[in-house]
Amino acid sequence: MSQRAVTTPKIELSSIYKAFNLGGRREAVLAGVDIIANAGEFVSIIGPSGCGKSTLLNIIAGLDDADAGIVQMDGDPSSMRLGSIGYMQQKDLLMPWRSVLDNTVLGLELHGLSKKQARLRALDLVETFGLKGFEKQYPLALSGGMRQRAAFLRTMLLDQDVILLDEPFGALDALTRVQMQEWLLELWESMKKTIILITHDVDEAILLSDRVYVLTARPGRVKMVLNIELPRPRDYKSVTTREFTELKSILLTTLHEENSMPAWGKLEETNK
Ligand SMILES: Nc1ncnc2c1ncn2[C@@H]1O[C@H](COP(=O)(O)OP(=O)(O)O)[C@@H](O)[C@H]1O
Ligand SMILES: [Mg+2]
Repeated sequence: MSQRAVTTPKIELSSIYKAFNLGGRREAVLAGVDIIANAGEFVSIIGPSGCGKSTLLNIIAGLDDADAGIVQMDGDPSSMRLGSIGYMQQKDLLMPWRSVLDNTVLGLELHGLSKKQARLRALDLVETFGLKGFEKQYPLALSGGMRQRAAFLRTMLLDQDVILLDEPFGALDALTRVQMQEWLLELWESMKKTIILITHDVDEAILLSDRVYVLTARPGRVKMVLNIELPRPRDYKSVTTREFTELKSILLTTLHEENSMPAWGKLEETNK
């Protein structure tokens, strides 16, 4: 028998359970979730609104604890993940009273860098993040796409191996969203980070991912794991290929089964 190379996953979730008090009752939100992201992989999680996706990312990031189950980073169940995983939450959380540049350096400052050193590091990357010329602007003066890129830059500046992204493009118009997806693809291909993305956009999940996990309605469990073996590098033209359409059909059918509610994508957008 041939020997298979055994690699330790970067992030491994095993049987994650979580319950919250909802409407006076203790209700299961996550009911045994297993997910793996290997080093350098792009993994997406998709599922109905309220099925526990953001809760799951909070648990991976170390901001919240699971009631049961194991989260391992590099095979270590007791790793200190808080602070060693980059996390871009569902809202961009930019501070309106700080300039774009000073928003992006916030994480570095919290890690003890002087403002001057932090700004120098950020200035190196403002062009890559499409923010050149806007460093001194305030968030309210920026378009949605730019605010999102500023939040991305703040997350990426910390240079962590694992990045969690919670519906980063959910609030953007369709055209900006496509541009941002292509931009993120290029960025990821050059930076080789492990990314776990939550999205409700099926095209986005397929275009970006090596693997897509579909969760059930609350309480969330993994309903399907879909490997996306489309060739890379990919760009938006990939969505017109037959292989893409087939994957999309599988995902949409699976999601549809989980959604008795119509237009849940819209509900998700108002759920912020
Ligand atoms: N800190 C909390 N306390 C109580 N209930 C919560 C908390 N966080 C999330 N919930 C509830 O858990 C469920 C899952 O939430 P969430 O993880 O945000 O779902 P998703 O991101 O998939 O839309 C929702 O019903 C939400 O109201
Ligand atoms: Mg959410």
